[in-house]
Amino acid sequence: MANKGATEVADASSSFPLTSIEAHLALEFVRVTEEGAIAAARTMGQGSSDGSDDAAVKAMRAALQEIVMDGTVVIGEGERDEAPMLYIGEQLGSNGGPAVDIAVDPLEGTNLVARGLNNAIAVIAASERGGLLHAPDIYMEKLIVGPPAAGKVNLDFPVLANLQIIAEALQRRVQDLTVVILDRDRHKELIEEVRGAGARIRLIADGDVTAAVACAISGTGVHAVMGIGGAPEGVLAAAALRCLGGGMVGRFWYRNDEERERVRSMGIADPDRVFNIEELASGEQIVFVATAVTDGDMLRGVRFFGGGVRTHTLVMTGQRLLVRFVDSTHIFDSQQVGRIRI
Ligand code: FBP
Repeated sequence: MANKGATEVADASSSFPLTSIEAHLALEFVRVTEEGAIAAARTMGQGSSDGSDDAAVKAMRAALQEIVMDGTVVIGEGERDEAPMLYIGEQLGSNGGPAVDIAVDPLEGTNLVARGLNNAIAVIAASERGGLLHAPDIYMEKLIVGPPAAGKVNLDFPVLANLQIIAEALQRRVQDLTVVILDRDRHKELIEEVRGAGARIRLIADGDVTAAVACAISGTGVHAVMGIGGAPEGVLAAAALRCLGGGMVGRFWYRNDEERERVRSMGIADPDRVFNIEELASGEQIVFVATAVTDGDMLRGVRFFGGGVRTHTLVMTGQRLLVRFVDSTHIFDSQQVGRIRI
């Protein structure tokens, strides 16, 4: 559960104290997502989603291998046979260290980068073993809210009822809410219902993890995320919201019986059940790190200058409540040291 006091719990599988996962990995992961974001940003606007993704995957994997940890990818680029790197089950890290499960999306918003559009991130989350739901790469219906409405919304309530709950929690009218929805045909009805309720809508082309984080941070102007997106992205969002006190409920959304069976075969007895945030990201310790590839509402995208590059990263931990924005200037050419600016 979130936000317990920092207790020294021994991890049976590694005898490494659990408390050290957050302290040990948070800043290590900054280098990982920075590397991924820089590599992906180099491909911005090239029109190749796969090429951008590939660049981020390679860079992040190389950086992850250097970290002292016993990591297992539980959410990644796909199964071993379809993804050569950062596949589900891949072991990462070296020299022992804490046993951790890793959820990684080296490039969240591949099409955004290919087209040079806003809100693409390189993102990773980790927890002690078993602390992140092993969600298959299918869809999930999500309802995500900021801290005031956490625990109050319900996927089975009508859209209007949920909007009224969120509005009340935020002490405003439904008309003063902005809901982020992925711009997809499957959301036609949802969009009509939100419009009918009078709330404002921001339709996004891609990138619902960024939107999820935004709705738990005041000042972004985002109050909820509704609709169907990737299940792996749902777990990443849950990890972030655990660190921010936000709320989320999710339910797998199936395109066919095969997907439903897949979920059953993973040990989920009721494939239609609703997962709350503590079930999506149940770990005592959570690390969430995201570096912007392109500009966004909370983070500035990668900026290249002669001899260097600047990155902007969000780093959060769930047990040791800590939210850091890391603004890094990476200088590759010693002649350029004088070019640092705030
Ligand atoms: P990629 O980075 O893999 O392209 O995913 C982007 C994304 O928009 C996610 O943010 C979202 O959860 C999912 O795709 C939605 O899937 P789809 O594009 O199939 O509707």
